[in-house]
Amino acid sequence: MEKRKTNRSVAAGRSSGRRRHASTAPKAKPFIRSLAKRANRDDVQLIPGQTTTTKEGKRLFWRVLFLGKSAGRVRIDCASRGDKMDASIDVQLNQASRGRGIGTIVFQRASELSGLPEVLATIRKGNIASQIAARRAGFVASEDQRGGELVLIWRNR
Ligand SMILES: CC(C)(COP(=O)(O)OP(=O)(O)OC[C@H]1O[C@@H](n2cnc3c(N)ncnc32)[C@H](O)[C@@H]1OP(=O)(O)O)[C@@H](O)C(=O)NCCC(=O)NCCS
Repeated sequence: MEKRKTNRSVAAGRSSGRRRHASTAPKAKPFIRSLAKRANRDDVQLIPGQTTTTKEGKRLFWRVLFLGKSAGRVRIDCASRGDKMDASIDVQLNQASRGRGIGTIVFQRASELSGLPEVLATIRKGNIASQIAARRAGFVASEDQRGGELVLIWRNR
């Protein structure tokens, strides 16, 4: 008589006698929209840090404050590429400060404060929050593609 399969052996993929390998692909976290109040422009401050010199150029840096408390940081890396200067923005907010509109304000304000004619945002295709925030801040798609990442561009007008 055939031995009955236990729930545990079925769940572990041993029912057919072959061991299935667990998927190594990272599971996408379900998206839950924040219920927190939207940030106003006046609630967000960018505090300039020291501009540092890098191998390729320079780095502009600001601390982000929301209602006077630390909410993250933003930097813009400027690198010379031949006779052109590339400026790339990177915004990092604390977990608790995400999803309430602060990122949108930060992308826009840092780009304006930089005084640069153009700023690029290179964003992973799966990073929806960053894409939405950058687009709302005035970044538009550029033809440039970097290893499957999206490159958005902001132009000072
Ligand atoms: C990316 C980041 C800067 C965006 O800032 P933020 O303040 O969280 O973004 P905002 O709230 O301004 O806008 C995000 C929007 O995307 C929405 N959103 C986020 N994830 C989403 C998803 N998976 N699907 C659909 N909408 C999504 C949010 O609901 C919000 O829209 P809403 O205002 O209509 O609710 C911030 O989340 C962060 O620091 N993340 C970690 C670091 C990172 O990825 N940096 C980007 C490198 S450039």
